[in-house]
Amino acid sequence: MVRLFAHFQASVGKKMIMALTGLGLAGFVMAHMLGNLQLFEGPHALNSYAAFLRDMPIVLWAVRIGLLSIAVFHIGLALQLGMRNRRARPVEYTVHRYRQASIASRTMAISGMALLVFVGFHLLHLTAGVIDPGFNDRLDAEGHRDVYSKVVHAFQNPFVVLLYLAGQLGLGLHLNHAIASSIQTMGFEHAGLNRLLKALGPVIGLIVVLGNVAIILAVFLGIVR
Ligand code: HEM
Repeated sequence: MVRLFAHFQASVGKKMIMALTGLGLAGFVMAHMLGNLQLFEGPHALNSYAAFLRDMPIVLWAVRIGLLSIAVFHIGLALQLGMRNRRARPVEYTVHRYRQASIASRTMAISGMALLVFVGFHLLHLTAGVIDPGFNDRLDAEGHRDVYSKVVHAFQNPFVVLLYLAGQLGLGLHLNHAIASSIQTMGFEHAGLNRLLKALGPVIGLIVVLGNVAIILAVFLGIVR
């Protein structure tokens, strides 16, 4: 009985950490989208913003290491809990009529993996500059790294656009379910606020995806050049 309780507690603790780390990552994605919207204000705004972030190497690396640790915990726990759920039900159902929770968690696993592939590509592409390195060393008139031209050049390529749009689909699906579920896991439930809390995921997901898609399509359609 004591062991069963300890096992249950450990599982709840892991879910809490997953919820907290997930909300942290969602916060980053929101802030990143808002920062990137400066593309619409032109090269000076986006390049100065990028330079401002890079001009504080200690803060930048602290945030990077923090983000990476949060992501490692989040993904590691997701895999662990996923495997534990599978072990708890070793025999597949003969009739594949999944419950609502099961469909949501399956979607979360697929969208989570799609997101991971997207972020890997994105980091090699725009941060490390390994994919398409042509714009890595280019500076603007003020001597800042020309992140604006790099982004504009990137989204003029239809393959890159398709990949980024697919990434946004993964991101939207993941946020759609994750935010309300994290809030619920952390115990924030209120009869009068439940509908509002449930709507938070879809609303935040939609805002982030629309912001990112606006950037991608504005460049691809030549509105921003
Ligand atoms: C249209 C969508 C996006 C655009 C235009 C964009 C743009 C950029 C750019 C230009 C950088 C490099 C900044 C620099 O070198 O100074 C960057 C870095 C990064 N992006 Fe994005 N991004 C987008 C979406 C996303 C999404 C959806 C995620 C996560 C799910 C993400 C995660 C990251 C991370 C983790 C970094 C590394 C930050 C660092 O330098 O440490 N980005 N992004």
